[in-house]
Amino acid sequence: PVTPQAPKRERNFVKVMQEQGRQVCFFYGSQTGTAEDYAARLAKECSQRFGVSCMTADIELYDLSYLDTVDEDCLVCFIMATYGEGEPTDNAVDFWEQFITDEEPTFSQGGESLENLRFMIFGLGNKTYEHYNAVSRILDSRLTKMGAKRIAERGEGDDDGSLEEDFLAWQETMWPAFCEALGVDETSAKKGPRQPVYNVESLPTYEKDDIYFGEIGPKPKPGSKPIYDAKRPYVAPITTRELFQGTDRHCLHVDIDISGTNLSYYTGDHVAMWPTNSEDQVLRLAGVLGLSDKLDAVISVKAVDSTASKQHPFPVPTTYRAVFRHYLDICAVASRQSLLPFVEFAPSDAAKAMLETLATDKDAYRLQIAEPVRNLGEVLELVMGPGAAPGAFSAVPFDLIVESVSRLQPRYYSISSSAKEQPNTISATAVTLAYEPSPDRTVFGVNTNFLYRIHLQHQADLPTGHLPAYDLAGPRQSYLNSEGHTDKLPVHVRRSQFKLPRNPNLPVIMIGPGTGVAPFRGFVRERVLQKNEGKQVGPTVLFFGCRHSEQDFLYKDEWPELFATLGDESRLITAFSRETDHKVYVQHRLEEHGQEMWRLLENGAYIYVCGDAAHMARDVQKMFINIAVQYGGKDEQRATEFVKSLRSTGRYQEDVWS
Ligand code: 2AM
Repeated sequence: PVTPQAPKRERNFVKVMQEQGRQVCFFYGSQTGTAEDYAARLAKECSQRFGVSCMTADIELYDLSYLDTVDEDCLVCFIMATYGEGEPTDNAVDFWEQFITDEEPTFSQGGESLENLRFMIFGLGNKTYEHYNAVSRILDSRLTKMGAKRIAERGEGDDDGSLEEDFLAWQETMWPAFCEALGVDETSAKKGPRQPVYNVESLPTYEKDDIYFGEIGPKPKPGSKPIYDAKRPYVAPITTRELFQGTDRHCLHVDIDISGTNLSYYTGDHVAMWPTNSEDQVLRLAGVLGLSDKLDAVISVKAVDSTASKQHPFPVPTTYRAVFRHYLDICAVASRQSLLPFVEFAPSDAAKAMLETLATDKDAYRLQIAEPVRNLGEVLELVMGPGAAPGAFSAVPFDLIVESVSRLQPRYYSISSSAKEQPNTISATAVTLAYEPSPDRTVFGVNTNFLYRIHLQHQADLPTGHLPAYDLAGPRQSYLNSEGHTDKLPVHVRRSQFKLPRNPNLPVIMIGPGTGVAPFRGFVRERVLQKNEGKQVGPTVLFFGCRHSEQDFLYKDEWPELFATLGDESRLITAFSRETDHKVYVQHRLEEHGQEMWRLLENGAYIYVCGDAAHMARDVQKMFINIAVQYGGKDEQRATEFVKSLRSTGRYQEDVWS
């Protein structure tokens, strides 16, 4: 029998633009969804405020070799995030390899010139990383070199500062330049009523099996063996155990069972977990919007524009509850620009005025929303003041919520197991996050607290006190607790470059304080396995730091046996920061062992650093430069170049976050 094929998606974006009469295309290279959100926001401004027809496009879905055929009166805009060590996002990797890594790319007409192309560019990056905004910078200079004309200043956003404010500031100069280039009269920009992007429809009748209760990606057909990936995560059984329990934080070891699926991983990869919002936050937002009684009503959400590249923002039909719990990032800080459309729906003049101030006054926004980390539900409550009636914002149309709140994105963790040792079980190591931006407020990390709640449900007596509540037996029953006590979580695997040297005989030096130790548990276990298989395994040194040897010493019981197997030159070197009256950090231990580390480097050692990007990774790099000065007889500049060359040859690898 012949299986009908889905119609092939058109990959020539220029053809799509022509057929749909689009003048502008906003391409995005997005990892966590921010660049995608920004592209959507720009597209909305472009079409609604300036009346210029446009489209957004996932750069992965189109063939960019057609850049040389873009109509002269059209415009292409790139919203590109930089990731890791100056790398493109996963969805931009192919584009990058084809047009940037390849020094002489050819375009659809056989040439190398982009003389007819006009473009704009905004980059998303983070200044704590060395290659700040590398992707947008390189892309900009490449396009320019190939003859393309950038019509507005390149924009750069710093996620360590305020990405959102950088994005807004860029638009202040970008839109006038855009209007000039496209011959749009800026003063005639429309300020009419809000035009919805999505249409929300209540479904009175539906097939229960068709409803999405939090599944990500299409439902598998009965009897089929689906391919799991980032677009369709696998709902995996998980088991948890507590590594330590402090007064303010807890650390979990999570084992994820991927047996019987197509999923696989390599030691050093990342696992993505798709989180669930806490019931507290779900009920808060639903309450202020007057949706508390309708949470299980079935709805469909569809783009108003029938040619939009994404017809549904999340799987539908679904319920309000599933949208709040699983599809929208309702715990994220409300963005300044997103607040303005809510003003007209505020129920009182005072609330209107306050919302407007928060949306337009940068300082007011920073003091009352950004710094105290208030999400949309909390902002709407704040502007109503204490004791406001429930449903104060029930005039807000639900499509505005869908449009203003980002999609809930997976959280990534460094895998802490060895794929050789346990190919069917992925381990992760997660500390629950809770912090107090001000004494009266506690903000809980979304996924880690969810994991902790899953863990706690099996304890006989749940600790009381300040923990977010999750409804684990709710409508995502198909996910959780469906098979006795098996807990489940949607996951997928992301490949990383963070890999042990191919030759196990080379020495490795690993630096991983806190949960930065996660990938090194995998590395060490893998080297032990290799040793047990009779291979020659070089010296393996791990620097681990934590607060106290009796409190947060991760995998304390595992290390002695592992290092005993690895032999004399291998060892764990610890730094306990809160046991003495002065701080002892991993870089201090590195300094003490400088001579020995230099000797390992001379023998071809690979260096790995995992954990905090802002301070630790930087200090560790400085220490290696010092070591090269002190023991390698190099001057400061030579030593710096030496460490750089280690990086470029893959002998200095980082897996860091901020
Ligand atoms: P601290 O919290 O006592 O300052 C894991 O988080 C360990 O890393 C903790 O012992 C923590 O110490 C330590 N740490 C904090 N800042 C660091 C830095 N800049 N460099 C290295 N380790 C650091």
